Amino acid sequence: MPGSAFRVLEILERAVTPISGETISNELGVTRSAVWKQIKELRQMGYDIQSSQKEGYNLVHTSNKLLPYEIHKKLHTQVIGRKIRYFEHTPSTNGVGKQICSEGDLKNLHGTVIIAEEQTGGVGRMGRAWISPAGGIWITIVLKPQVPVDHIFMITMAGSVAVARAIRKEFELGALIKWPNDIYIGNKKIGGLLLEMSAEADRVHYCLLGIGIDVNNPLKDFSAELQRDITSISAEVGHEVDRASFLARILREFENRFQLVESGEYDAITQEWKSLSATLEKHVQIRTLKNSFEGEAIDIDEFGALIVRKDNGKLERVIAGDCYQQ
Ligand code: BTN
Repeated sequence: MPGSAFRVLEILERAVTPISGETISNELGVTRSAVWKQIKELRQMGYDIQSSQKEGYNLVHTSNKLLPYEIHKKLHTQVIGRKIRYFEHTPSTNGVGKQICSEGDLKNLHGTVIIAEEQTGGVGRMGRAWISPAGGIWITIVLKPQVPVDHIFMITMAGSVAVARAIRKEFELGALIKWPNDIYIGNKKIGGLLLEMSAEADRVHYCLLGIGIDVNNPLKDFSAELQRDITSISAEVGHEVDRASFLARILREFENRFQLVESGEYDAITQEWKSLSATLEKHVQIRTLKNSFEGEAIDIDEFGALIVRKDNGKLERVIAGDCYQQ
């Protein structure tokens, strides 16, 4: 947001009663017509500002959009989310990530968060479609990580832990992680993570950590089949929630864990993941591209692989696939 519109917004937020254009222009040392332009700009960005000839301007409520300024006010991170790219609509925030990484200076892009109010072509794991209507959180964190290629899955684990913790702290809901990177409340999925990367055998160019969470989006907009299997934050708590605070919390929780991953403290992440796991000690059915089998999920290793004791007693290490559990 241009600095001057930001300053007008600050004045409106501070005011307890409507405030005249003249008072704002005096406070900022700009003309009344400049104030009017900045008010118009703020309205275009989604801020609800009422005005009356007699009383002046009144900020009705802060925007319910995930506007960069709303996130920055609450963020308190060093790197993650300091730069934000915001879209009302885009096919996929991971797609935007690929685009900007192919064009830009990766060092500069590290920590950038791409936010979309709606995605028209959201992508889930295994190339599945990810339905992303207005009201959810659909973001991609762009990273140039100092992490060896073989430990890159730690970043998704850190992301899953961050999302589960943020849900727990913000809403006191018992969020758990279902392997590999689904977030569940009870037996319903509330979110998922998708890590995409560009790498050579021994070097990671960049990673895109996509996070999708059903927050305030009405579940009735999903197919009847999906509605059986998913939930949202607002459905769980019974009212709409402040998405900006929630997103800022997720980014903070993620930054803390990402720092652990970069300093090689994999055990700390694995232990926290295990403590939030909905999968360990459960009877699971695994479907990979090659085969499918059943057994008990007994562990996860530091590469993010699930260790399953098959019904015949043999141990199987699963790196990628779908996991179904009762
Ligand atoms: C899954 O299949 O569970 C992972 C879903 C990941 C969805 C997110 S939404 C933001 C980002 N952009 C996408 O197109 N996908 C990810």
